[in-house]
Amino acid sequence: MLSRLIYASEATEALNPEKVETLLAQARCHNEQRDITGMLIFNSRCFLQVLEGEREPLSDLYGRLTHDTRHRRLLLLGFESIGERLFPGWSMGFAAADASHRTEYLRFGDTSQFDPYRLTAPAALGLLTNWRRATTPAGRAKGQASLQPVAAAG
Ligand SMILES: Cc1cc2nc3c(=O)[nH]c(=O)nc-3n(C[C@H](O)[C@H](O)[C@H](O)COP(=O)(O)O)c2cc1C
Repeated sequence: MLSRLIYASEATEALNPEKVETLLAQARCHNEQRDITGMLIFNSRCFLQVLEGEREPLSDLYGRLTHDTRHRRLLLLGFESIGERLFPGWSMGFAAADASHRTEYLRFGDTSQFDPYRLTAPAALGLLTNWRRATTPAGRAKGQASLQPVAAAG
């Protein structure tokens, strides 16, 4: 059963770009093996991640995420069955949430800050989907010099 999971969490250590790149590379490799797709947004403090795939591997991954000491305060925003993926072909997209996206935070939430803990599941999905649209199919971020979102091939 195809499902979608969205959660928020807080980084436990200063994750510099290199560490996030390593985390993403491993995540993409695992996700490709398990046919899991999605997107991760990070603002140096909080994460917002959407994961799509079959229910069992998805539930298993969430279990592993809850034991990962690189983040804490995991808040499950939503877990639902879906008809189709919103992030097909994205083994794990990535975007840095910075102040230049204030308008989007206000559009989908009630504050101009990136605060995934305050988002409902539909609002979080709206924000993530909006970000995915702002990224070219090749996965190059518009106007970002580093940590570009990368879509999986295919
Ligand atoms: C914010 C964050 C996002 C992550 N996203 C994924 C992911 O999409 N896929 C994945 O396999 N692991 C992801 N991980 C890593 C997992 O928590 C875990 O370390 C990895 O799946 C390996 O688990 P294992 O050591 O139990 O085999 C993420 C970790 C963090 C902190």
